[in-house]
Amino acid sequence: MVKILLVGNGAREHAIADTLARSTHQPKIYAAAGERNPGILRICQKTGGEIILGKPTDPKFVAQTAQKYSVDFVFIGPEEPQFMGVADEVENMGIPCIGAKKAPSEIEMSKAFMRRLMWKYKIPGRLRFMAFKNVEDAIAYINEYAESIALKPARQAGGKGVKVIADLQAYLQQEKAEVKRKHAHDIYEKHMQPYTDIEDRILIEQKVEGPEYTLQCFTDGKTIKPLPLVQDNKNAYNMDIGPETGGMGSIGGPGLTLPFINEEEYKQSVSIVENVVRAIDKELGEPYRGVIAGQMMLTALWGPTIIEFYSRFGDPEAVNVLPILESDLVDVSEAIISGKLGKINLKFRDTATVVKCIAPRGYPDRRDLARGHPLYVDEAAIEKRGCRVFYGSVGLQDGEMITGGARAVEILAEAESIPEASEIAESCIDFVKLKDDWKLFHRSDIGGETLLEKRIELAQLIREIYNYRREKDLVGRQVDWIPLRGRIEYQA
Ligand code: GLY
Repeated sequence: MVKILLVGNGAREHAIADTLARSTHQPKIYAAAGERNPGILRICQKTGGEIILGKPTDPKFVAQTAQKYSVDFVFIGPEEPQFMGVADEVENMGIPCIGAKKAPSEIEMSKAFMRRLMWKYKIPGRLRFMAFKNVEDAIAYINEYAESIALKPARQAGGKGVKVIADLQAYLQQEKAEVKRKHAHDIYEKHMQPYTDIEDRILIEQKVEGPEYTLQCFTDGKTIKPLPLVQDNKNAYNMDIGPETGGMGSIGGPGLTLPFINEEEYKQSVSIVENVVRAIDKELGEPYRGVIAGQMMLTALWGPTIIEFYSRFGDPEAVNVLPILESDLVDVSEAIISGKLGKINLKFRDTATVVKCIAPRGYPDRRDLARGHPLYVDEAAIEKRGCRVFYGSVGLQDGEMITGGARAVEILAEAESIPEASEIAESCIDFVKLKDDWKLFHRSDIGGETLLEKRIELAQLIREIYNYRREKDLVGRQVDWIPLRGRIEYQA
């Protein structure tokens, strides 16, 4: 019998556990988790495994647990255990691991490593950037050069702290420079403050715009097997307003692309991720085994462009694609481990998917308010509508489900089109409730006709400019006209 240790306890890990449990190998699933996620617990118990509570980021805890239960392999869900060297420790004990080791996981952890790699290997979809180790140098650069920019923490910091500032006009330049300076301080003093594992602190990138999407892939370090595209929606509230969250819902399909990304753009996106996996192998001399995802944007500069990389599945993006995977995830995992991923024919059900995330009010900025509420989910009613429930930030106390302060539940709906799936998911929202008088919220617009049209229109506009630039041989080159300074050209 195959035994697997899953690391992590969110909705993404619930989807991974669910997909592993569907395998014809009938694996016994254990989970090294920080909380008793009710969905993962049920799967572990059903397969004869259990949840072992501990810190998923602690390499010793995970490796010793894997050894204790004599598992055949470990499957890591989230990024932080990878950054902390969990895969390295597990493999040092002779147990194979699906999940990037510490060095290759820098593709997500260090945004400067990722950009330097893309520039060194001249991979399309790269952006101009500067990385700073201290705030004074970042501010000196802002004062002297930075016009339209994205200011980011140089490390993966839970998706927080990114600010995009457009600034090509002569007016309000002082005010905009002040906003940039203040945000550079915020990144340095607030967003990067918890992290001592990286020298670069602040990243300044050229600003680009366009619709975003995620391309998730399995890789054994040589071959990549792409999954269908998914678009996550990061803002907390309808119409893309409000603070950035881990993602409030996502759309996918039908088929491999999205309604606003065409086949050619899909292929270009796959080629970018493939080039990056090869570059990691060359640079580090060790294979990348697990999942890699390009968080991409369709831009006029390059077409498909890398905004960042994930060294794992996205959450909620995993919930769109894993439940529709027809191939056996244990076979896929074993092929990754043996370096034979090329032999796997990855198959998916051809359907449109919409995931709606439901969170207690307070998320994302006041997690203290969102935490500690008793949760009720009428799973039978949701399943009756053909939908699935995936539990996120939820634990169990005396048999009661209690919210953990972030996205509590993700509902997956499938249909022939994204708007139809969105409508079905919407009909399930009221089946998720808090038992006290605190309130939940979600985004009703994700997957709906209006937002989808907006994405399609934006993509069409960007594509037209990109095609014009391609005709003029301007792909990857940027020309700015700055009042009083004239024409500035940058070449990738
Ligand atoms: N959905 C964004 C993330 O997984 O980081």
